[in-house]
Amino acid sequence: MNIHDNISLRGLNSFGVEARAARLVEWESEDELATVCFDGRWMALGGGNNILFTKDFDGTLVKSAARGIEITGQDAGSVSVRARAGVDWNDFVTWCGERGLWGAENLAGIPGTVGAAPIQNIGAYGAEAKDIIASVECFVVGGGTRLTLAAEHCAFGYRDSVFKRELRGKVIVMAVNFVLSKEPRPNLHYAALAEKTAEFGEPTPESISRAVISIRDSKLPDPSKTGNAGSFFKNPVVDVAIAHELAAIYPAMPVYPAVERGKSKLAAGWLIEQAGWKGRVEGHVGIHPKQALIVVNTGGATGAEIVEFARKVQSAVREKFGVELETEVNIVC
Ligand code: EPU
Repeated sequence: MNIHDNISLRGLNSFGVEARAARLVEWESEDELATVCFDGRWMALGGGNNILFTKDFDGTLVKSAARGIEITGQDAGSVSVRARAGVDWNDFVTWCGERGLWGAENLAGIPGTVGAAPIQNIGAYGAEAKDIIASVECFVVGGGTRLTLAAEHCAFGYRDSVFKRELRGKVIVMAVNFVLSKEPRPNLHYAALAEKTAEFGEPTPESISRAVISIRDSKLPDPSKTGNAGSFFKNPVVDVAIAHELAAIYPAMPVYPAVERGKSKLAAGWLIEQAGWKGRVEGHVGIHPKQALIVVNTGGATGAEIVEFARKVQSAVREKFGVELETEVNIVC
């Protein structure tokens, strides 16, 4: 176990903002976690790809250094795989692709760790982590016990789970169990992905991953070059009636069915672009010119500046469309 006191977080968050944490604990085993003192404020940190520190963190950050992926079972059509929380998400996707296992390929290239994947049920190109998660193994803070939650008890929703709600601040993800398919199961409903995959030949987990990464590279900024946390906002879910009213005024507006009955999902990127904010820069913060969902640190921004900028984007969308944009990024105040 590594313990760092008064540590700079600049290299530990993909926005690249400066902030310090009173303590950072890097753990590898459950036994190590059991020895950590959780009195006072604490928070689990994954790859730091979905977090915005607006000031110093006066508590303990707990980060998994637990690595390892293993096959835990299989039958005629599927393979069960356990990956520990600190495994890089894309390494997990690559591991599955190399073994011809289907299910993770659409989620290639998402920055972050396996342990963070269930928290916000990461998703892209018509797939979500919940589609392949069988269960999540957690450490219960305070009790020191282990809790394994089957997927049906994780309340997975669009960028949402029980870990962001009832279990927030109560558990730490130690490992995730997945079920992957041996049978071909290409998910190419997302038109741009189908086209790009065809350029690479037959659909396989590896060719689909390559296509996903190629599309991501063309639209999304590389956080190692330009600080960002992927989508800053969630796509808003509104009443179907509101989506209809807006679509009557803006016929080009994308509208998707939502999982919830009577609701529709709108495209935050489209709303932000139409509100005139795509590519706009103020001070050290801007909206990415190729994907309006992404707020970027153009260099030297503070967390507080980024939040202030995001508030302006939210106001612009509210004024033009009457739609509230929720942040997807975890803002730590
Ligand atoms: N759009 C615009 N302007 C933009 C961006 C998007 O008009 O600047 C329109 C597009 O033309 C399209 C629609 O909005 O009609 C949806 O765009 P896209 O398919 O690019 O996806 P998204 O809804 O903007 C979501 C995820 C991304 C994920 C993509 C691809 C969220 C919050 N974001 O974005 O996830 O990569 O779908 O599946 O759901 C992330 O979470 O960090 C992330 C990048």
